[in-house]
Amino acid sequence: CRVLVLISGNGSNLQAIIDGCDDNLNADVVGVISNKPDAYGLVRAHHNEIDTSCVIAHVGESREEYDERLSASIEKYQPDLIVLAGFMRILSDKFVRRYLGKMINIHPSLLPKYTGLHTHQRAIDAKDTEHGASVHFVIPELDAGPVILQAKVPVYPEDDVQTLAARVHEQEHAIYPLVVKWFSLGRLAMKDNQAFLDGELI
Ligand code: GRF
Repeated sequence: CRVLVLISGNGSNLQAIIDGCDDNLNADVVGVISNKPDAYGLVRAHHNEIDTSCVIAHVGESREEYDERLSASIEKYQPDLIVLAGFMRILSDKFVRRYLGKMINIHPSLLPKYTGLHTHQRAIDAKDTEHGASVHFVIPELDAGPVILQAKVPVYPEDDVQTLAARVHEQEHAIYPLVVKWFSLGRLAMKDNQAFLDGELI
């Protein structure tokens, strides 16, 4: 399974997936694309001898135009799976439809709770006792695709965004490589906006 990872920043999930693929004969990270030239994830890719590309947004360019260039860059890698790992751009409908069922994202909340940004702060403000992360297939609606796997963490009264984010991140690094492995083994599918593992509805 040829895995392509899209990033914008630190790339700690990218690192977890690279490490996971070392033990997974079925999957290979064949490339990393960033929309930010200074994303630390690009350094991680270089350390692991993985090819990288930058697709930087032009001033005045529409979302559709950007996504066309992104697609062209993606096609060079002929991926079987596209992994969004902290890729901080909203994707156009046309782009998402093109990769339906073969593009996944990780979101730092227990979806459907807290789509969008600032999820840790929102969980703290709401005095939630439970928070977490979700891996889901990507559909045109933001953070709304069918969930494949979630990890829960406790929220403690003394938590701030940093302590809570760190606890969630640790879980992200466990669940994301596992989902990549499931996909690479052909165990995952999306049909009619629903996710299936081994043919069973998740
Ligand atoms: C993660 O918290 C992920 O849930 C969100 O973006 C963050 C990326 O972190 N989508 P990293 O770049 O993988 O360290």
